[in-house]
Amino acid sequence: MSKTIILGIESSCDETAAALVADGREVISSVVSSQIDLHQKYGGVVPEIAARAHIENILPVLRETFDNAGLTSKDIAAVAVASYPGLTPALLIGVTAAKTLAWAWQKPLLAVNHLHSHLQSVMLEQEEDCFPAVALVVSGGHTSLYKCTSPVNLELLGCTLDDAAGEAFDKVAAILKLPYPGGPSIEKLAKSGDPKAIRFPRTWLEKGSLNFSFSGVKTAVLYHCRGQDMLGEDRVGSMSEKEKADIAASFQAAVIEVLVRKTLRAAEKIKATTVLLGGGVAANTTLRNELQNKCLEAGLKLIGAEKKYCTDNAAMVAGLGYHLLKAGLTAELSLEPAASDNQAQDFIRKSRKL
Ligand code: KG4
Ligand code: ZN
Repeated sequence: MSKTIILGIESSCDETAAALVADGREVISSVVSSQIDLHQKYGGVVPEIAARAHIENILPVLRETFDNAGLTSKDIAAVAVASYPGLTPALLIGVTAAKTLAWAWQKPLLAVNHLHSHLQSVMLEQEEDCFPAVALVVSGGHTSLYKCTSPVNLELLGCTLDDAAGEAFDKVAAILKLPYPGGPSIEKLAKSGDPKAIRFPRTWLEKGSLNFSFSGVKTAVLYHCRGQDMLGEDRVGSMSEKEKADIAASFQAAVIEVLVRKTLRAAEKIKATTVLLGGGVAANTTLRNELQNKCLEAGLKLIGAEKKYCTDNAAMVAGLGYHLLKAGLTAELSLEPAASDNQAQDFIRKSRKL
């Protein structure tokens, strides 16, 4: 039987990416053009700069994706694009490119939820069947727990009420004057620190809650560095490397303890036997190891996305696109990017004429 190849396009934040994936799992070609250098001096992603860079990068990235695979438009079954959530000016570039190609090539268009696609990255190049499962998506913009019964059937169990875990890593890195993006910088520095050196707060919220809150731990790090009243001098410049490493390790430990405990709580609640882990922060080795240990203790199987598919890429978009196509959930050319889930549902409903 011939394979169903989907073209995926991703531009929700600061990565311009395209990929060709067969049958939702087999990555034929995946190209990611990162804009880290452009945003580094601002300490975060500037939406307008991201959008402009996407415009410059999208065609070369698409060309490279097809050239690497030795395929043409005739070989693909559909065009999938991350259309929500994300930075609207950035999403617009990928969505416009996808709509144009779908129209020019007369292929179905598929609107992909970027967050849900992070979970699809767990299934890339994987033979295992993972459902039913609890899934933790932990990225720069979101921290969400889902009950998953299939790739397109996700029920939100809990999410962050303020900062996402990745955002907290980025902000704490900025406090410690470490380079952007903060996650990898904190992880590197934490390796030489003591995770028990400082007891930063863990926010559990009300009993049994599966929601998260990371602004408290971020503020605790700020107060630790600047004094409770914020009137003290910024001590970071005069801190020893060991002192900074202890802060990084202690902060990382606080975030990970909450992520791991709530994920296990969710698995227990819905009686899942498998835990899926995806999103940029899932690249963190300490998180992967801690979650693995606790899953083993609880008799749960953990499947984490391969590190190269944790941060934003288009293979995960094409992967989820395949399941949407199989389910007949195509979008119309009137599709628009959306910043929020509600707005997205509205656009997609209209676009699918449901
Ligand atoms: O999924 P992603 O590429 O983009 C979003 O959808 O947000 O995630 C990016 C986030 C950033 O906040 C970055 O600091 C974080 O993932 N991150 C990490 C690591 N690598 C990336 N956080 C902790 N440890 C890492 N090794
Ligand atoms: Zn992402």
